[in-house]
Amino acid sequence: MAEAAKTAFVTGHPIAHSRSPKIHGHWLEKYGIDGSYRAIDVAPDDFAAFLSTLRDNGYSGGNVTIPHKESAFALVARRDEAAEAIGAVNTLWFEDGALWGGNTDGHGFAANLDQRAPGWAEHGPAVVLGAGGASRAVIHALVERGIKDVRIVNRTLARAQELARRFGAGVSAHGEQATGELLADAGLLINTTALGMHGNEALAADPAGLPDHAIVTDIVYVPLETPLLAAARARNLRTVDGLGMLLHQAVPGFERWFGIRPDVTAELRQLIVADIGAK
Ligand code: ATR
Repeated sequence: MAEAAKTAFVTGHPIAHSRSPKIHGHWLEKYGIDGSYRAIDVAPDDFAAFLSTLRDNGYSGGNVTIPHKESAFALVARRDEAAEAIGAVNTLWFEDGALWGGNTDGHGFAANLDQRAPGWAEHGPAVVLGAGGASRAVIHALVERGIKDVRIVNRTLARAQELARRFGAGVSAHGEQATGELLADAGLLINTTALGMHGNEALAADPAGLPDHAIVTDIVYVPLETPLLAAARARNLRTVDGLGMLLHQAVPGFERWFGIRPDVTAELRQLIVADIGAK
């Protein structure tokens, strides 16, 4: 008897904007897998019920996005180490009969830099702009990859301090007024705030003050070249846009549900670039 087609999903609220179905759909087709991946809008009040019926509804697992990442963290039976460290779950799967929650955002961040700026992890100290959920995933990746000096800069200092406490030695918290001084000897600058997102043209920090060897990256990918990345490029610094983080965070989930570790190729990237341009 042929094995039943596997089905996975991305759930959020709203979810229509999600590019995950395009990414996973591309891989399903490329690898000739008899499976499907769909977007499901679930309101916050219905999320717990949705999770409890996953298996009965035939799902192998799925992705979780805003606003359900923290609820998923609380509701799953088991969590991987990254989810524990980040405090949020973006990937669900079944293992040994239990619903597991993992977090692949930090992996996506690091794998994007591995692909586009090899050797990046030798480039400490790192300055991280922002102290929200995305920042937590980035800091986890930086610490895991051995960066010993991680400086969080946030408009609201208390949030940066809370994160610094969470991650411990080597991670420090700073207010925005300290940015200039912190950049002077930094090898990595990462924007995790929404500044620079379409229609929001402010510069999160001025890359002019960075050393010549610094790498600048933004987790915002609409537009692909944010004002921060444009300023860094004008200053002749190495830049990496945020689209690769989206593509790479999808890899571990696809492998768990469909059994093949997919490649992040130029073709996939172009597909999503075209989609961004079309909207
Ligand atoms: P996410 O999960 O995407 O990281 P978040 O948890 O809402 O979203 O965090 C947003 C981050 O962007 C925060 O660090 C926020 O700063 P505050 O903690 O001070 O709110 C930062 N941010 C958003 N708008 C900003 C702005 N106009 N200026 C500076 N920082 C901003």
